[in-house]
Amino acid sequence: MSVTVYVPCDASALSLGAEAVAETIAAEAARRGLDVTIVRNGSRGMFWLEPLVEVATPEGRIAYGPVQPDEVAALFDADFLHGGAHALALGPTESIAYLKSQQRLTFARVGIIDPRSLDDYLAHGGYRGLEAALRMSGADIVQTVTDSGLRGRGGAAFPTGVKWKTCLDAKAVQKYVACNADEGDSGTYADRMVMEGDPFVLIEGMTIAGIAAGATRGYIYLRVEYPHAHRALKAAIAIAEANGYLGDDVRGSGKAFHLEVRLGGGAYICGEETSMLESLEGKRGQVRVKPPLPAIHGLFGKPTVINNVVTFASVPIILDKGAAFYRDYGSGRSRGTLPIQLAGNLKRPGLVERAFGLTLRELIEGYGGGTASGRPVRAVQVGGPLGAYIPASQLDAPIDYEGFAAIGGMLGHGGVVVFDDTVNMAAQARYAMEFCAIESCGKCTPCRIGSTRGVEVIDRMLASDNAGRQRDEVLLRDLCQTMVAGSLCALGGMAPFPVLSALDHFHEDFAGTAEPVQ
Ligand SMILES: Cc1cc2nc3c(=O)[nH]c(=O)nc-3n(C[C@H](O)[C@H](O)[C@H](O)COP(=O)(O)O)c2cc1C
Ligand code: SF4
Repeated sequence: MSVTVYVPCDASALSLGAEAVAETIAAEAARRGLDVTIVRNGSRGMFWLEPLVEVATPEGRIAYGPVQPDEVAALFDADFLHGGAHALALGPTESIAYLKSQQRLTFARVGIIDPRSLDDYLAHGGYRGLEAALRMSGADIVQTVTDSGLRGRGGAAFPTGVKWKTCLDAKAVQKYVACNADEGDSGTYADRMVMEGDPFVLIEGMTIAGIAAGATRGYIYLRVEYPHAHRALKAAIAIAEANGYLGDDVRGSGKAFHLEVRLGGGAYICGEETSMLESLEGKRGQVRVKPPLPAIHGLFGKPTVINNVVTFASVPIILDKGAAFYRDYGSGRSRGTLPIQLAGNLKRPGLVERAFGLTLRELIEGYGGGTASGRPVRAVQVGGPLGAYIPASQLDAPIDYEGFAAIGGMLGHGGVVVFDDTVNMAAQARYAMEFCAIESCGKCTPCRIGSTRGVEVIDRMLASDNAGRQRDEVLLRDLCQTMVAGSLCALGGMAPFPVLSALDHFHEDFAGTAEPVQ
């Protein structure tokens, strides 16, 4: 009987040699005359263990990792095909502490199924949400999403059901669904993992959105730097079309939904939803003034539901298991789970999906295992390049939207980037301003000019004497306030937050003075 061996085809595993590992396992099995079926699954999200090889045994899947090609022969010698003992053996995959304590709802299948197999998707609960949605009215689907408490996972945390209702209520012959898969935030990869490891869940979520809002056409705006996700999505869309899950008559319902992937323009601002619409229309990615809201006047001027990959991917389980099931997870007004992406200076970087409410400390010290360098944590940036730098003294902050706002932070897309005590926070502040200057779309003055002036002022602060530094700090804070208050979108409006947090919490890095100028 053939033994199934799983070797991830996720970009993180491939970058660590998974392709060569899969080839070596196939060659070694052939050489030994053993019948092995290799399945290319997504990643389980434990990157320090990649390439993570799993073997299907009667007792469940047994993990080995990180595996390199030159260790494959020894694994065969140790009879890993039957879960044999070896230095790289990690035991049953589901029992690895990092995974066992997670609450994977959106990521329920990622790393488990073959992303190119519809049968595998169906066998693991796939398309049950759509089947339920097809029995409901658009208004009832929207109500279910509203009741679940789901908020956008792309950054702004806007209630998803409210957005869908606005689009549903808009009168138009043509409406669209657009998925924001630009994933530009530093340290984030949840969208990529979903698209590479479980692309059907995104397709299902978008189809449900289309059926709910009355939109017959959808686009996935995919970051151009994600070639593996592109291939996975194209393959899954073709399979969904061939099996009646997409097309003019979705599952015989008489309702149409068509889906296409469009590659992004390669700029951070193209992830801002109105810039994304411009780019989708074939124009330069530049921010549109709101209102009108995209849900009313979006792609090609038509009502458009725009959501992030993780938001759409969270919808099928809500429709399948009900709003209350999802809502039961979480804390306060942050309902459900958040796929948190641990990155930066950590021993165990990876994907952790948990209900809202755990603390940064649990994430960094518990899951992450502390810094890779072994040095103390000094700062954490949560929510991408526009997120404030959080000092180690605030690691007990709870991960939920309101709790984070209370300490001047934002969860954004759930990226957590950790720095140890060797980081120079003045350099980080300068980088934040420089990033804004490089990525500004140029439409409004506070951001376009302000960010460039901001870099100059920080440079001058770092080069001048005490009196000059204090004068420039006043100027820098004033400039930051102007950007926050006067920018058209959140790039210019939030880029000051990392700068101000660095000044407030790590003032000593800007000069000898320990006291921030107020
Ligand atoms: C500068 C900037 C970059 C953004 N980049 C992304 C992105 O890469 N992916 C994303 O989903 N949302 C991004 N957003 C947020 C989107 O504008 C929008 O809020 C989101 O796509 C809506 O989906 P959601 O409600 O599911 O979160 C960005 C916003 C700004 C201001
Ligand atoms: S804040 Fe910056 S990115 Fe946003 S519209 Fe203004 S210039 Fe463009």
